[in-house]
Amino acid sequence: MELKHVKAAFYSATGNTEKVVKAIGQAIAEGLGLPFEAFDFTLPANRQGVLSYGPEDLVVVGTPVYAGRIPNKMLPYFQSGLEGNGALAVPVVTFGNRNFDNGLIELRSELEAHGFHTVAGAGVAASHVFTDKLAPGRPDEADMAALQEFCRKVCEKVQGLQEIPAPVAVRGDDPVGPYYTPLGTDGKPAVFLKAKPKTDPAKCDNCGICAKVCPMGSIPADAPQTVTGICIKCQACIKKCPQQAKYFDDPAFLSHVAMLETNYARRAEAEWFL
Ligand SMILES: Cc1cc2nc3c(=O)[nH]c(=O)nc-3n(C[C@H](O)[C@H](O)[C@H](O)COP(=O)(O)O)c2cc1C
Ligand code: SF4
Ligand code: SF4
Repeated sequence: MELKHVKAAFYSATGNTEKVVKAIGQAIAEGLGLPFEAFDFTLPANRQGVLSYGPEDLVVVGTPVYAGRIPNKMLPYFQSGLEGNGALAVPVVTFGNRNFDNGLIELRSELEAHGFHTVAGAGVAASHVFTDKLAPGRPDEADMAALQEFCRKVCEKVQGLQEIPAPVAVRGDDPVGPYYTPLGTDGKPAVFLKAKPKTDPAKCDNCGICAKVCPMGSIPADAPQTVTGICIKCQACIKKCPQQAKYFDDPAFLSHVAMLETNYARRAEAEWFL
């Protein structure tokens, strides 16, 4: 198995997954003495084509976990936009301090089903995009040190490979289980599928940044105070608005966030699989 490139491909609405996937890709590339390149398919324009790899590639593929799985609106791209053709892969998910549930095993299995041979995997705790109270500042120094150690072991494993490896064993249900049901502070399901961010017209200066960063292309450039398409609650428009003009006020959504803040404040650790 003669590797020539380490690559990365990821969906990352607010940057956590990008940071983790690039750090893993770069560390593995350095360890193997190979060049590294990354592709970001967060925006719709970057999901038009197919990313085709081959046996000379090791590809770090990343996504945040939404409701315990691959974000459901991104799943079709993971199924039809990535072709392994015998490439090695390292599936990586980030999660916001609750749990990655079946997100990593789902990504592992989708990659295996589409021509990749998974050699290692990681579920990495990161700040929760819904609130600054869950895992703020993560991944932190300790996470990044553990990440470097993981990458060292991945390099060792890859250098010792004599044949195609068995799919990496990761935590989760196989076949993959249902999506996590978000709960409210009353312990009952919090239904906020149709919630969309609102805009404070007194703060918004119509700069259009939110329209450019929406992974669903749901904010029109000529009317950035509206959301005309599907909203997946990714928070990109909220986090990237320079005027802090966007916000969610849906009661079920806010109740879910309050429930998470109450019940998932403890430190969740990253999990590494080889
Ligand atoms: C719609 C949605 C659902 C989420 N569901 C979960 C979850 O089930 N478990 C969890 O621990 N974090 C969950 N998170 C938090 C993200 O996985 C976490 O903040 C991630 O690092 C964000 O990655 P990004 O910065 O690359 O977008 C969710 C975030 C969003 C937007
Ligand atoms: S990014 Fe903020 S200020 Fe700019 S158009 Fe969008 S809501 Fe308005
Ligand atoms: S409108 Fe919804 S999907 Fe689009 S960036 Fe904002 S939170 Fe994400």
